[in-house]
Amino acid sequence: MKILAIETSCDETSVAVVEDGRKVLSNQIYSQIDIHKLYGGVVPEIASRNHLEKISQIVDSGLAEASLTFDDIDAIAVTYGPGLVGALLVGVNYAKTLAYALNKPLIAVHHIVGHIFSALTEYPDLKPPFICLVASGGHTQLVVVEDYHSLNVIGKTRDDAVGEAYDKVARTLGLPYPGGPQIDALAKTGDGSAIHFKRTYLEKDGYDFSFSGIKSGVLNYINQQRQKKLPINAADVAASFQEAVIDVLVDKSLMALQKYKMDTLVLAGGVAANSRLRERLMTAAKIKAFNCYAPSLKLCTDNAVMIGCAAYYTGDVTKSVDLALNAVPSLKL
Ligand code: KG4
Ligand code: ZN
Repeated sequence: MKILAIETSCDETSVAVVEDGRKVLSNQIYSQIDIHKLYGGVVPEIASRNHLEKISQIVDSGLAEASLTFDDIDAIAVTYGPGLVGALLVGVNYAKTLAYALNKPLIAVHHIVGHIFSALTEYPDLKPPFICLVASGGHTQLVVVEDYHSLNVIGKTRDDAVGEAYDKVARTLGLPYPGGPQIDALAKTGDGSAIHFKRTYLEKDGYDFSFSGIKSGVLNYINQQRQKKLPINAADVAASFQEAVIDVLVDKSLMALQKYKMDTLVLAGGVAANSRLRERLMTAAKIKAFNCYAPSLKLCTDNAVMIGCAAYYTGDVTKSVDLALNAVPSLKL
């Protein structure tokens, strides 16, 4: 079963061919980051226009990389939400057109479900049940994955997503968009215990997150230092912010593993690319004897491989969804 998958929910135009949910035959990602960088964040209208300009070319490259033609493809998969509506619509309409013209089944995939299963193509033995920590620019969730069709969100952010907090703190420090990788790199030269930022745990036994407080904490610290004409060590700020955020992510993930009696944690989403988060979780996994899987960096940020994988495991590859399929920008899990 060869699935041609399309992902255009934000600022990456991506096309992949995935065989039987696990084997990556191609993975094409065109990132618009350099364009949006000029504006300090993703501009939705510009994202849609660029998807539109690139989509045909990326589909062709996805097939060429796999040395396949449309005839070899068994089904088309596409992200239909959540995401930016104009950006999603480009992928959804392209996929619908392909499915109709080629008379192949269309599979609609939830973007976050894609992230949750993104590591499957790299770890042949990985399968549910597991707990997934989804940490991206738009979402922060703890999900109990009982099997491919039973996903239960036990905790989510009540305000900013963790990636959003990284991006906002980076902007405060004058770093370019996207800020996550910048903070990651800068923190390596700083001292994570130099400044104490308050960790927000909300209810003691709960799994919800809140990251708006720490964002304001960093801003207040910088303003106070400026008022007092004291120096600001950006590397220490980055490292201390990162340590505070990661403390909460690690603690809540471990609590969930214990409570739900699971021994496998899967990390997913753009922030899963963070070197310190990966290191802290891998260390905890060694000490507490649980398995921890994180996709390679290329599969952490948005990509179509995860959509092809999720389509195979969670969609119905034998029959098409209705071609009246629409983009759903705030699709819930
Ligand atoms: O999953 P993703 O590509 O898009 C969404 O679905 O949101 O995640 C993008 C987010 C951005 O906020 C970006 O700053 C963050 O992931 N990110 C990182 C790192 N790489 C990307 N955050 C921390 N450390 C990184 N190395
Ligand atoms: Zn994403």
